[in-house]
Amino acid sequence: MKQIPMLDLRLEYEYMQKDIDAAIQTCLDHQRWILGPEVKVLEEKVASYLGVKHCIGACSGTESLVLALRALAIKTKGQEFFDKEDEIITTSFTFTATGDAILRAGATPVFVDIDPSTCNIDAGLVEEYLGTGAKVVGIMPVHLYGQSCDMDRIMALAKKHNLFVVEDVAQAFGGGWNSKKLGAIGDAGSFSFFPSKNLGGFGDGGMVAVNDEALAELIRMLIKHGGRDKYNVDHVGYNARLDTLQAAIVGAKFTYIDEFNGKRKAIAAQYNEGLRGVKGISLTGTISGADHVIHQYTVRVLDGKRDELQKALKDKGVSTMVYYPYPLHKMKVFRSGRSRMHGSLRHAEEAAGNVLSLPVEPLQKREDTEYVIECIKGYCDP
Ligand SMILES: Cc1ncc(COP(=O)(O)O)c(C=O)c1O
Repeated sequence: MKQIPMLDLRLEYEYMQKDIDAAIQTCLDHQRWILGPEVKVLEEKVASYLGVKHCIGACSGTESLVLALRALAIKTKGQEFFDKEDEIITTSFTFTATGDAILRAGATPVFVDIDPSTCNIDAGLVEEYLGTGAKVVGIMPVHLYGQSCDMDRIMALAKKHNLFVVEDVAQAFGGGWNSKKLGAIGDAGSFSFFPSKNLGGFGDGGMVAVNDEALAELIRMLIKHGGRDKYNVDHVGYNARLDTLQAAIVGAKFTYIDEFNGKRKAIAAQYNEGLRGVKGISLTGTISGADHVIHQYTVRVLDGKRDELQKALKDKGVSTMVYYPYPLHKMKVFRSGRSRMHGSLRHAEEAAGNVLSLPVEPLQKREDTEYVIECIKGYCDP
């Protein structure tokens, strides 16, 4: 029986092997493992690609979010952490790291519901919450599945209410909003190089993109224990540097990012064509202005049949994943800890119960995508 994985990282490695092996060999030759030359080279390449002044490598996407928020707390409040009265609005339908980062930076996450079509934060509800007079300091939009949030509305709200914006771009490297790259629009953009991301390393890694010189300087201090001199520090810092070896590998893979994002879009176009109108599922909507880089191709399975369809596909050798089965506001860490909800969040709850992400391996063959489509049709529309 055919086996269609969500991703095939070995296949990707083989495709790029010469570049990756050469990059690793260079590290073996120079042996500069901590903040070696590959880190700076990658930071500069990504900054130029995104069109931002500064990129700072970090040890994960999660830490990148925390670093961005901590630097904003130091810069805007003149204190190490936010106060718990400081609220940061974000989506409940995201990976836990988004909300955790807000808690770890000392602030309180406020969860608002998603637009049920795109699964991204509903900017109208952000506006509604801001109208309640709460003490909001920032907004953290998450470009879920590779698709931009409505950044025009979010940036306009931020401007009106004097808020910062930290974009969580973990799932959307290379994606865009109108003429801009994601991560280059807000005060900071946070990226993940987790292996399964559009631009992934062979382990953990991340990056923060900023234009502001002072923020860049603070983040550079925070990744190295909080000081310019690591033996005499100014801030409560971390050991959160991007590893030289990961920077080398990500740097080699970076050459392929536009080609691979293009392949992802072609797979999505084939799914769209094959699945449109199939009974029992609906496709995720798109927002005009977004250059969607299809980190995940996610459908909604109607009538409570998601788990059944997932099992039927598994039996046919097709892997699928549920991103995410629990919205953040339902998790103990947020429920019993510090967090607020605006409204009912029913769309986030509904999505958690019916989303299903299909295989998007950029190198998967057209016939493999067709096989997935046929298996879905066989179950939904026998
Ligand atoms: C939306 C989102 N935010 C943050 C992260 C955290 O990134 P990392 O796993 O590199 O820490 C992820 C990755 O899983 C993510 O999908």
